[in-house]
Amino acid sequence: MSHQPGNLPDVPELSVLLADPRTQEPLQWRGDGVYDRSGRRRAPIADGVAEFVSDPTQDHFGLQWNRFARTQFDSHTGTTVSRDRLTHQSGLRLADFAGRTVLEVGCGAGRFTEVLLGAGASVVSLDFSSAVHANRSAHALAEREGRALFARADVFELPVRRRAFDIVLCYGVLQHTGAPRRALRCLWEAVAPGGLLLVDRYRIGLRNTVPAKYALRPLTRRLGSERLLTAVRASVDTLLPHELSLLGHLQGGGVRGLARLAVNRAAPNSVYPVNLHLAGRLDYETARIWSTLDTFDMYGPRYDSPQRFRSFRRDLHALEDGDVVRCIICGQGNAGAVRRAHR
Ligand SMILES: C[S@@+](CC[C@H](N)C(=O)[O-])C[C@H]1O[C@@H](n2cnc3c(N)ncnc32)[C@H](O)[C@@H]1O
Repeated sequence: MSHQPGNLPDVPELSVLLADPRTQEPLQWRGDGVYDRSGRRRAPIADGVAEFVSDPTQDHFGLQWNRFARTQFDSHTGTTVSRDRLTHQSGLRLADFAGRTVLEVGCGAGRFTEVLLGAGASVVSLDFSSAVHANRSAHALAEREGRALFARADVFELPVRRRAFDIVLCYGVLQHTGAPRRALRCLWEAVAPGGLLLVDRYRIGLRNTVPAKYALRPLTRRLGSERLLTAVRASVDTLLPHELSLLGHLQGGGVRGLARLAVNRAAPNSVYPVNLHLAGRLDYETARIWSTLDTFDMYGPRYDSPQRFRSFRRDLHALEDGDVVRCIICGQGNAGAVRRAHR
């Protein structure tokens, strides 16, 4: 299927990978929707995004990623934070993504989509929420080149061909799905023979424990998204200058290092961006906005289920025909990579 660079192709090349989640019947991309063979419309296409779901359950994610659409993009911050997380968690080099077909599930605003596309991959990016619209807006060029396709879809009903993707990537998502083990198995179905599954999940463990978050969540989850965002903005604006000064005094190892860890864990907001600022990687304003986004992300999600490392590793080993090639504890919690046997 050829098209002129600069024009959107009528039918995106990557749409050949769309299929009915149950029957695996191929689905066809037409002007206003995605259709099955019998002519039934399975998803409307709105602003170039095929919408297989319209459920508002994860709407706070839609709000956060549309309001803070570029906050965590490396191209916006001038850092390599997203790229480094991808290469560290996956154990791959950027070059390993070149020419690969990637399914990205729970893409959010697309901080990893940007890295994947920049590395030369073709990416089908899905998200349950309207976040995927923010992602599409950020990647118009790759879409015109036929290397990106966007859909609203559920990890439990992936509208794609089974065993068709070189890499399936799902970062920052499993804990928010309500049934992470089942989600893991659904993702695994999409991995091609010889292909890789890349996942992570929040961890239960001293280094990753955030007591304030789990103490406050029963209350914050009941606030509407807009009220929560207002409360988060006010808290972050109040706390950040104090945290900055405190953590500024706690640089170095030994007792100071331990005290720094304690401040990081005890804070009711995300202080990771403050640390990036102290390391000279983010300016203060970007750190403030990033902390607002991350803090909203701590308190808004309906589901948040962290997991012990051992249990995470067991889940990866349980994937049929899989070889666990990486399983680590990292900043995000647990991360791993599983390769499907060549057959
Ligand atoms: C914390 S965000 C992470 C976004 C992105 N991967 C990142 O790291 O920046 C979690 C994302 O998972 C999506 N999500 C949650 N449940 C999902 C589901 N059942 N199917 C697909 N996506 C889901 C949310 O809409 C949200 O955008």
